[in-house]
Amino acid sequence: MTEQKPVTQTAATPAVPTLPDAQTVTGVTHYTDRLFSFRCTRPASLRFRSGEFVMIGLMGDPDPKTGKVKPLLRAYSIASPSWDEELEFYSIKVPDGPLTSRLQHISVGDEIILRPKPVGTLVHDALIPGKRIWFFATGTGFAPFASLLREPQTYADYDEVIITHTCREAGELTYGREIIESLKDDELLNEVIGEGFWKKIKYYPTTTREPSAKMGRITDLMRSGEAFTDLGVEPLCSQNDRAMICGNLAFNLELKEMLEDYGLAEGANSKPAQYVVEKAFLD
Ligand SMILES: Cc1cc2nc3c(=O)[nH]c(=O)nc-3n(C[C@H](O)[C@H](O)[C@H](O)COP(=O)(O)OP(=O)(O)OC[C@H]3O[C@@H](n4cnc5c(N)ncnc54)[C@H](O)[C@@H]3O)c2cc1C
Ligand SMILES: NC(=O)c1ccc[n+]([C@@H]2O[C@H](COP(=O)([O-])OP(=O)(O)OC[C@H]3O[C@@H](n4cnc5c(N)ncnc54)[C@H](OP(=O)(O)O)[C@@H]3O)[C@@H](O)[C@H]2O)c1
Repeated sequence: MTEQKPVTQTAATPAVPTLPDAQTVTGVTHYTDRLFSFRCTRPASLRFRSGEFVMIGLMGDPDPKTGKVKPLLRAYSIASPSWDEELEFYSIKVPDGPLTSRLQHISVGDEIILRPKPVGTLVHDALIPGKRIWFFATGTGFAPFASLLREPQTYADYDEVIITHTCREAGELTYGREIIESLKDDELLNEVIGEGFWKKIKYYPTTTREPSAKMGRITDLMRSGEAFTDLGVEPLCSQNDRAMICGNLAFNLELKEMLEDYGLAEGANSKPAQYVVEKAFLD
């Protein structure tokens, strides 16, 4: 993986929409040769809860037989908070991926398709009240937490917010780290959420295949107790702790089992409980 200095392109020039459910790209930032984020216009009618995902995409190639083109859509967590007037997404670039081999080349003024039907389990409504919330992410699984970390309800509901992010390489942490660092000086967020809200956040980034300040999988670091010592916090308990998990399938399953061992029960929109989980991608 090649780390790049984040390269941002901004300044919107909304064009006349030509796609169904079209939205216009207003900014693109590339972090590595595998990761980028982009912002786009938000449909006036779109309401969503921070942490939810939508289907986005581009028009596919023409059908060889009929010549018809159909939208090529994939699930994407909305990385911006529910109050933001634009939408933000954080994306992988899969070299031969049907969508992202093309999506990675979008630039300001281009159109994407966005189906305005947000859904998902990583929402505050699916959790019962607690004192401390844990956001556990690997890779692009950080995206829903980029939304929830900028959501006022997160700080209204909890005394402490712990975000862990495990990636293979250090450059893959950049997007998350920059969002967390920017919270401190963001005048609007301090006003909307409450002055000094960011002091509730404890950030724990780790890498597994490239040296960084903290190496290891979060699961192993929790099992050994190292994560709790580093963070200066007590291990999880069902009375105080609530958690949201978003990563690859193996990570989700392993962490789910660990949370159950700590005594937490899985919640859903229809039956709120102590933790919720969602896949960052399908394998
Ligand atoms: C609920 C949900 C939310 C999602 N949110 C996001 C998001 O916010 N950002 C995002 O980049 N993707 C997200 N995805 C994955 C996304 O839907 C697509 O799979 C991804 O954009 C790649 O599309 P593709 O057509 O290029 O390749 P696909 O054919 O969809 O995938 C090809 C292969 O690439 C790998 N892959 C796919 N997505 C990822 C990923 N995100 N990280 C690492 N490896 C991956 C998998 O091994 C997959 O089999 C989400 C998936 C789900 C189910
Ligand atoms: N990241 C890259 O540089 C890279 C480059 C080329 C291709 N790819 C491909 O892209 C796909 C996704 O790669 P990705 O790096 O985005 O995501 P990933 O493979 O899901 O790994 C993301 C992070 O999650 C950790 N992890 C995996 N399983 C875990 C578990 N059970 N418990 C705790 N942590 C766990 C990984 O640690 P470990 O490192 O210990 O597994 C890694 O730090 C893979 O198919 C991969 O082959 C990735």
